[in-house]
Amino acid sequence: MEFFTTMLCLFASLLSILVLNSLIKIFSSKRRDLPLPPGTMGWPYIGETFQLYSQDPNVFFASKIKRFGSIFKSHILGCPCVMISSPEAAKFVLNKAQLFKPTFPASKERMLGKQAIFFHQGEYHANLRRLVLRTFMPEAIRSFVPAIESIALDCLNSWEGQSITTFLEMKNFTFNVALLSIFGKDEILYREDLKRCYYILERGYNSMPINLPGTLFHKAMKARKELSQILAQIMSTRRQMKQDHNDLLGSFMSEKAGLTDEQIADNVIGVIFAARDTTASVLTWIVKYLGENPSVLQAVTEEQESILKSKAEEGLIWEDTKKMPLTSRVIQETLRVASILSFTFREAVQDVEYEGYLIPKGWKVLPLFRNIHHSPDNFKEPEKFDPSRFEVAPKPNTFMPFGNGTHACPGNELAKLEILVLLHHLTTKYRWCMEGAQNGIQYGPFALPLNGLPIRLYPKK
Ligand code: HEM
Ligand SMILES: *[C@@H]1O[C@H](CO)[C@@H](O)[C@H](O)[C@H]1NC(C)=O
Ligand SMILES: *[C@@H]1O[C@H](CO)[C@@H](O)[C@H](O)[C@H]1NC(C)=O
Repeated sequence: MEFFTTMLCLFASLLSILVLNSLIKIFSSKRRDLPLPPGTMGWPYIGETFQLYSQDPNVFFASKIKRFGSIFKSHILGCPCVMISSPEAAKFVLNKAQLFKPTFPASKERMLGKQAIFFHQGEYHANLRRLVLRTFMPEAIRSFVPAIESIALDCLNSWEGQSITTFLEMKNFTFNVALLSIFGKDEILYREDLKRCYYILERGYNSMPINLPGTLFHKAMKARKELSQILAQIMSTRRQMKQDHNDLLGSFMSEKAGLTDEQIADNVIGVIFAARDTTASVLTWIVKYLGENPSVLQAVTEEQESILKSKAEEGLIWEDTKKMPLTSRVIQETLRVASILSFTFREAVQDVEYEGYLIPKGWKVLPLFRNIHHSPDNFKEPEKFDPSRFEVAPKPNTFMPFGNGTHACPGNELAKLEILVLLHHLTTKYRWCMEGAQNGIQYGPFALPLNGLPIRLYPKK
C-alpha cells in the first residue's frame, strides 16, 4: 500500500515537473529567467484544490504564508496562481489594471450576464463605473435616507417577538434597499417577481454548472431569462412615460450612457448580486459581535439614543448618519474581522515582474484580503474584536474591505448608510439573544456565522 502511494506521488511530481517545464518554455519573454515565487503546485491539473477546500481556506492560506512568505504560488481549480498577502503587493495588483484583468469562471459570467461591470476593463468598464458611482456617491444617496429608514422599520417590525435567521432576514432588507437604489419608488410594483426569479438564480449560482433540464443551473438560466424580460418591461414602460429618474436604472437608460437593453439588464442584475449578500453578511456579523460584546453594544446604543434625543422631529436624515463615529468603527472592525470577501481574483495579461519574481502571463493572482486584515504586522491582536483600534487610521493598504483601484466597490457608501440606519433602530428599540450554537463559520460563498445566526428579537421595555 505504502509502495503504491509512494509511486503515485513520484509519478505525480514527475508529471508536474514536466508540465511546469513546458509551461515555462512557453514564456519566451525577456522576463522568463526570473524565478517563480516559492510554493508547491500539488498534483497535475487538480493541484492543491483539495487541500484548499478540505479545510477552512484561510487555514490553508495562513499555513502557506508561514511556510513561504507573503507571495507564493499554488495551483487550484485547474489554474496556476500566485497568492499575495502583503499590503503593497495587493495594492500593486489592484491598481495596475493594464497588467491584471478581472477573471471569473465562465459559468458565473453566463449567469450574471457577460456584459456586467465586474468582467470588463478599458472604456466600457470606465463608462459603467462612472454611471454607477454617480448614483451611489454621497450627494446622490442622501435623498434615499427616508426610504431606507422605512424599509428598515418594516423589517424590524416583522421580526418582533420572532425567532429569525438573521442572514435570511438581512438579505430581505438589503434586497429591498438594492431595488430602491436601482428602481426608485417604482420598484414596489415588480418586487415580488424580481425576487422570485432572483432567488432561483442564486440557488443555481452556487451549483454545478451543468445545463440539463431539471438541474439547478438549468432553472437558474431560465430565471435569468425571465429577469431580462421583467427588466425589458420596466424599461419600455419608462420610455413611454418619458420621465427622468434619479436612480441607477435612470442613469443606465440616459441617452448619454449609450447602453443597450441587454447591457443594462446584465448590470442591474450584477449590482443586485454585488449589493445584497455582501451587505447582509456584514449585518449578520455585526449582530453577532454586538451580542457577544455587551460593553460595545452599550456604547453603540448610547450613541444612537443621543441622536434620537437631539432631534426635534422624527425620521433620520443624512446628517444624523454622520454623527455616528462609534457605530461606524463597529462597522469597520466587523469588516476587518469578518473579511467576508476573503480574497479576489485577477489574471496577469502579460509576464509581470514583481519583487524579483515572475508572475507568468495567464496565471491567476489572488490578493488575500482576509490574511492582510488578520496579520499581526498590520493589526495588534488581530483575532480580537476591538472597534477602538479604528480611532487611529490603519496603515496604508492594510484595510481593504471594499478592494482598491480600478474595480474598488462603488457601493461602499450605500452599504455603510443602510447598515447605520438599521443599527440605529435595532439598538434603540430592540434587544436580542442568539439561539443555538454560535461558533463556526460557513462559506456561502461569503463568510457567515454558522446557520445564518438564529436569534430571537424582543422590543425593549
Ligand atoms: C458591505 C458590503 C460590501 C462589501 C464588503 C463589498 C465589497 C466589494 C469589493 C471588495 C469589491 C471589489 C472586488 C474586486 O476588486 O475584485 C466590490 C466591487 C463591487 N461592488 Fe461592492 N461591496 C459591498 C456592497 C456593495 C453594494 C451595496 C453595492 C451596490 C450598491 C456594491 C456594488 C459593487 C459593484 C458594482 C462592484 C464592481 C465594481 C467594478 O468592477 O468596477 N457593493 N465590492
Ligand atoms: C421583507 O421586507 C419588507 C420591508 O421592506 C417587509 O415588509 C417584509 O415583511 C419582509 N418579508 C419577509 C419575508 O421577511
Ligand atoms: C486605495 O488605497 C489607498 C491607500 O490606502 C487609499 O488612499 C485610496 O483611497 C484607496 N482607494 C480606494 C478606491 O479605495
